[in-house]
Amino acid sequence: MSVSNYQFATRVSNLMPNPLREQAKHIQSADDYIKLTYGYPSEQAFPIEKLATLSDKIYREHAVDFMQYGESEGIPRLREQIKERLSQYQNLDVENNDVLITSGSTQGMDLVFKIFVNEGDTVLTEEQTFVGAVNAIKSYGGNAQGLPFDMINGCIDTKVLAQTLAADTAHKIKLLYLIPTFQNPVGTSMSLEKRQEVYAICQQYQVMIYEDDPYGDLIYNNIETIPKIKALDTSGLVIYAGSFSKILAPGSRLGYLLAPKAVFDRLVLVKQVADSFANLYWQYLASQLIDDYDFNEHIDYLRQIYKVKAETMVRALRQYVSQYMTFVEPDGGYFISVKLNHDIDPILFYDALDRYHVGVIPGNIMSAAGQGYERYFRLNFTLPTEEEITVGIERLAQAAATARIKQQTAL
Ligand SMILES: Cc1ncc(COP(=O)(O)O)c(C=O)c1O
Repeated sequence: MSVSNYQFATRVSNLMPNPLREQAKHIQSADDYIKLTYGYPSEQAFPIEKLATLSDKIYREHAVDFMQYGESEGIPRLREQIKERLSQYQNLDVENNDVLITSGSTQGMDLVFKIFVNEGDTVLTEEQTFVGAVNAIKSYGGNAQGLPFDMINGCIDTKVLAQTLAADTAHKIKLLYLIPTFQNPVGTSMSLEKRQEVYAICQQYQVMIYEDDPYGDLIYNNIETIPKIKALDTSGLVIYAGSFSKILAPGSRLGYLLAPKAVFDRLVLVKQVADSFANLYWQYLASQLIDDYDFNEHIDYLRQIYKVKAETMVRALRQYVSQYMTFVEPDGGYFISVKLNHDIDPILFYDALDRYHVGVIPGNIMSAAGQGYERYFRLNFTLPTEEEITVGIERLAQAAATARIKQQTAL
């Protein structure tokens, strides 16, 4: 006899499959698709030769260590290296905070929501945000509530933030989840003034901030580095999340959290429950890479190759699509956000794109509410070649031309 009606817990019964991963299975296997879709690094970005040499070295020197059980916090050397980098380059306080190595930053947000979000609680987000975060919030019975976002200033509406927190007399709002630098999917960054304002509001209402920062190192224009919100944190309110996915390899599944000590202790407990510790082989490999090579040089190299790709995409967008859509030029990161003009029918447009074999991420997928962003879509420029970028954008224009709503001619 087989069970036909499994009684799943409510926390998972409302979860939808992650549309990005599901679509990836379909499009990834189609060779003739131009993939402007996923937040994947370029294959040129992987330091394969260096890692092969280092892999040999760590097999000779540390095989027994990385094949054995390890510490939930992560290996001491890698945690030290991350702290040194965060302190030296980002001016973050690594005395009153500690670093936990996670299995990708995906696990970082999962652990943080697990320790703070009860069923019925709310996590505030940018209206357009990372779908993985929305799903993680929902998996604990929480609500992801999007705040209006100003695309020009790259920031949530701070007045609405203050009003929303003031109205929350039952204290259901547990966290503010933000991607302040090279936001996903919008690509913009919050100014220092806005970071200070957001921090002051959260401090007033004692609401934690989760600063998700997988793209922060990937700066392409000569803008000054904007301080992290965590750099402003004098009250232990901010949890900072970093990742090796976008700057080394997503297959490493290496991310980390810098959290106030008391929060860190709780995170270690749930990390033990989740998977005991992050993959040790990759922890040793990444640590050896930082020890034996200049990791800043590697990041500079990534900045160079991605800057060229970003510029190619901006140029092609200006050349081919300006009569159909508008876009926000990014200063870094992986994405460009595009908005269809009012005379383009979004359904016809996405249908046509599929026929032209171009993959993009429609705005609703990357939003807290899952609706209201049908005119927006996200383009990735790091994975495709320059040629694919140009052809892909030309096809966007062709798809838009077929989806144009005909003007009613006056009789
Ligand atoms: C904003 C944001 N946070 C977290 C992640 C997850 O990254 P990781 O591979 O470190 O789990 C991504 C991946 O695309 C992302 O865009």
